[in-house]
Amino acid sequence: DALTDFIRRLPKAELHMHVEGSLEPEMMFDLARRNRIALPFPNVEAVRAAYSFSRLQDFLDIYYQGAAVLRTEEDFHDLALAYFRRAAADGAVRCEIFFDPQTHTDRGLPFGVAIEGLLSGMAAAETELGLSTGLILCFLRHLPEDAALDTLKAAEPWLDRLLGVGLDSSEAGFPPSGFQKVFKAAGERGLKRVAHAGEEGPPAYVAEALDLLKVDRIDHGNRALEDDDLTARLVREGQVLTVCPLSNLKLCGVPSLEVHPLKRMLQLGLKATVNSDDPAYFGGYLLDNWVQTARAVGLEREHLVTLARNSLEGAFWTEAEGAPHL
Ligand code: ADE
Ligand code: ZN
Repeated sequence: DALTDFIRRLPKAELHMHVEGSLEPEMMFDLARRNRIALPFPNVEAVRAAYSFSRLQDFLDIYYQGAAVLRTEEDFHDLALAYFRRAAADGAVRCEIFFDPQTHTDRGLPFGVAIEGLLSGMAAAETELGLSTGLILCFLRHLPEDAALDTLKAAEPWLDRLLGVGLDSSEAGFPPSGFQKVFKAAGERGLKRVAHAGEEGPPAYVAEALDLLKVDRIDHGNRALEDDDLTARLVREGQVLTVCPLSNLKLCGVPSLEVHPLKRMLQLGLKATVNSDDPAYFGGYLLDNWVQTARAVGLEREHLVTLARNSLEGAFWTEAEGAPHL
């Protein structure tokens, strides 16, 4: 229909998508077969039926389990390229993807397997689809900062091919303040910095991400709205929020899409963007997130153009690329 076509044609960037979260049940079974791994599910329907979550941790438990079928560079290449095809069909021009190396190294994969496979999938997307892509390494915050420091060290040979670092996994009880050393080290190596904050955690975690980790974007940020001073600061500083509406719905951060705060964020002047987070688990890719939220909260064309512009301006373009204008 007209709304879907309008949104598909808008040039947009996706800035918050965990590539392990784009593993569709069909591919999970294909990779399990290819790698001779037994799955604890009889078929794809049973996998999908297990995707019912009441909070972030319910999802994370099943997401880390699913990632176990990823074993070879080819697996990571195929995973990334399948996502990029979906994103390109949705009208994305730029995709900055997250990956969680510790999920893979902790089960015995060498660090290079995931990153080399992903970089190869990104190269294929650039030539085959004309997409601009980038890679962000996320540290798991439920693990100690020393493990994050070891991960940054393991990434040393690939730093020139990384856009930046992020912070994800279980938020409550794992504040940004625990990761100051590794974020400082990443900044000194010329990497951009982002962190999940205010998804389930309190507004204070959003302030910590800015003040202590010096982040360049906030992933989610929803709970910042509970603090008027913090909200005013985010507006004043033009901080980009990578909001994920279908994720918020599936993880019960909002009771329905109709009451999602995206429109309020735009009305307040926050630099919000729309993203899919973990599309295979939350029931929608980039365009699904845009269209369903636009319908549910009643976004006008000008809101949609602002969201697209925010995503292009919030992307970490290299100097050679330069940001396209909308
Ligand atoms: N890892 C993958 N998706 C995540 C999310 N929405 N929050 C925290 N960690 C994640
Ligand atoms: Zn996320």
